[in-house]
Amino acid sequence: MKNIDSHTHVNGQSVYLDDIPLIHGTLFGAAYGSPIAHGIITALELEDALQVPGVVRIFTYKDIPGENQIGGIIPDEPLLAEHHVHFCGMPVAFVVAHTLEAARAAVHKIKMIIDPLPVITDPREAQAKGELIIPPRTFTMGNTTQAWQQCTSVFEGSVDINGQEHLYIETQGAYVVPQEHNALRIHSSTQGPTAVQRTVSKVLGLPMHQLEVVVTRLGGGFGGKEDQANMWAALCALAAWHLKRPVKYALHRMEDMVMTGKRHPYAADFKIGLDASLKIIAYEVTFYQNAGASADLSPAVMARTLFHCTNSYFIPHVKATAYSCRTNLPPNTAFRGFGGPQGMFVIEAAIALAAEKLQLDACSIQKANLIQSGEAFPYGQVVQSEAANCWEKMETLYDTAAMREAVKAFNKSNHQYKKGIAFMPVCFGISFTNTLMNNARALVHVYTDGSVGISTGAIEMGQGVNTKIVQVAARIFSIPTDKIKINPTNTYNIANTSPSAASATADMNGKATLIACTAIAARLKQVAATVFGTTNIIFENEQVLANGESTGWDWKKLVHEAYIQRVSLSEHSHYATPEIHYDINKEKGHPFAYHVFGTAILEVTVDCLRGTYVTDAVKVVHDFGASMNTDIDRGQIEGGIVQGIGWMTMEEVVYDKEGRLRSNALSTYKVPDIYAVPKELLIEALQTRQDNLAIFGSKAVGEPPLMYGIGIWFALRNAISAFSPSANIPFTTPMTPEKVLMALHSKKATGDIHQHAEKASYLGINH
Ligand code: MTE
Ligand code: HPA
Ligand code: MOS
Repeated sequence: MKNIDSHTHVNGQSVYLDDIPLIHGTLFGAAYGSPIAHGIITALELEDALQVPGVVRIFTYKDIPGENQIGGIIPDEPLLAEHHVHFCGMPVAFVVAHTLEAARAAVHKIKMIIDPLPVITDPREAQAKGELIIPPRTFTMGNTTQAWQQCTSVFEGSVDINGQEHLYIETQGAYVVPQEHNALRIHSSTQGPTAVQRTVSKVLGLPMHQLEVVVTRLGGGFGGKEDQANMWAALCALAAWHLKRPVKYALHRMEDMVMTGKRHPYAADFKIGLDASLKIIAYEVTFYQNAGASADLSPAVMARTLFHCTNSYFIPHVKATAYSCRTNLPPNTAFRGFGGPQGMFVIEAAIALAAEKLQLDACSIQKANLIQSGEAFPYGQVVQSEAANCWEKMETLYDTAAMREAVKAFNKSNHQYKKGIAFMPVCFGISFTNTLMNNARALVHVYTDGSVGISTGAIEMGQGVNTKIVQVAARIFSIPTDKIKINPTNTYNIANTSPSAASATADMNGKATLIACTAIAARLKQVAATVFGTTNIIFENEQVLANGESTGWDWKKLVHEAYIQRVSLSEHSHYATPEIHYDINKEKGHPFAYHVFGTAILEVTVDCLRGTYVTDAVKVVHDFGASMNTDIDRGQIEGGIVQGIGWMTMEEVVYDKEGRLRSNALSTYKVPDIYAVPKELLIEALQTRQDNLAIFGSKAVGEPPLMYGIGIWFALRNAISAFSPSANIPFTTPMTPEKVLMALHSKKATGDIHQHAEKASYLGINH
């Protein structure tokens, strides 16, 4: 089935926040963000700004009737700064004017006097100074301290992973319209309507039932609007509540880039030990998450880093510790993969280092350690693994041994150009790691003409969830998809939603829809059973069959009959993912409904004169379960891979030592374009066990494919090593052309090699 939005997207009729017709009298907001990253506010001068023609009012924290607090997990984030500023761009005042131009002009006239305080941008420095968002967490399995003795080789290294700007095409924004009885209608570009509702409720001191949050769709979220849409909705709501006028604020791209958090940068130290058969016996890792100035979703993101720190591998002895470090950057937040990608990069770096020292291809270590069904991850969940199946299918489909030989042959006969190849297995757990969030609701109405309207908590952000929900209802009622309509997500219809995130939106809202539709279908069948004198009633192609025979009744007639008999044609349903549980004190449990697996093989060519490169091919074997919409799912994989490649190669978030974002526009922040797309991108499905916690056995697909992109970094590393085996290639991301060029012409410091040898003998290594 085609994406139900495809036509309106192409002809420009799809409605985003900026397409909502403005009500007469609408005012426009703009936020004034702190120009410096850390300090104490000694004066805030608004007089000049208030003189700008068209300015109506400027709001500060003093105008907040409820709590000046928008922290979701930890209450550590003011909506508007009071006395302290903690990051550059932190909102301090909110200007409201008759025009957007006036609001922005006034923002430039605001002056603030700040006593500066020291700025921390580095997570290791923050950790050393005790600046932690939450206490550290440690996952352990086996006993690493004893396990090093079983290892024939042990290697240590460190990693620096950069962040990533979400760059959703639609920037953040909100439009708030006052309603009667002191209620507010809040249009928000958010993945989490309930999070917006809760935040506004707290800030204004209004009960949640006064707040109608409405979302038609987003022009992309990628995690950036899971929590960080709250601020803009709360600012507009604050102004609308005071002024009794509609207030809109859609951020300028540069405001969005400067004021919002991004994917978390991480630093990490690892130690990996292998035995002679290349089994990874032990792995220790310490993560330093750069959380930014307040918690936002960092604690949850940090948890997923720990969950995925062994990627697709079984390692019997693991000790993984993570610190969430408070720095003077905008609070970093959810981004496709939610901390998992950083955990996976580090284990892949450890394997790459081991392979280099042992003079092997990394793939021989990767393959030897893929997790098998029945084995457990460090957090205790025993897994139903498709890791080896994906890998083997890859080998049979593409003769990967021949591919590797061809790369070697190419590199022998070329000097300027070198190819690199890398495998990237992925294992990603599906469910919010916070068990309580794994529930969803649907409200299904069948109208007397047989048409169907569905509301759920799902947010359509380009990932195609609305299309999948239509498919669910169409299958249960056996009616054409054009009889089914998905309504905008609205907190008046569906309450207490979890955000559309964790790749679980179609699973959870689809299951809720399935429950509601099944209940209505059962009532309709009961009506038919009475009419036709048999309980053997089925729906097929809009027809009602009794005992397998045509009854001459169609769907519409049956619906109408049910209505006449006063049978309910509506259902509100609730779905809570079964089987999952987690004990945070023991760091053990069964947090995920299931895991998604896959393997990619990635090939690059580096121009060793220029440092530039192209991605020749990405070939994927992906565990879809049984995909319910292969076009949408392929779209998710293609987009995820390109986004992953961008993160690993060209997207370089640069903050200076003063905590100012230097890469604050598309001229200084390079994102993938058509030239960055792999020249060949092949996706093969592994039809796997139809996991019954996936909707119709169709496994979640939103986030896992991004992590295939990690392989590009290691393919580039291999190409550089082919040019210069003694090249010094630190584990830092992204691998920009500049870094490639530097690495091509670098040398491992002899001191380094020496030092490593010393360490090696100290650890009793025989390599
Ligand atoms: N695809 C598009 N086109 N736009 C998006 O914003 N977000 C990603 C992924 N794919 C996103 C996307 C992220 S971060 C998640 S968690 C999932 O979609 C959310 O949707 P799902 O749960 O329906 O997969
Ligand atoms: N994934 C994505 N978003 C989340 C999660 C998660 O596991 N937990 C809380 N928000
Ligand atoms: Mo996705 S990072 O879970 O919104």
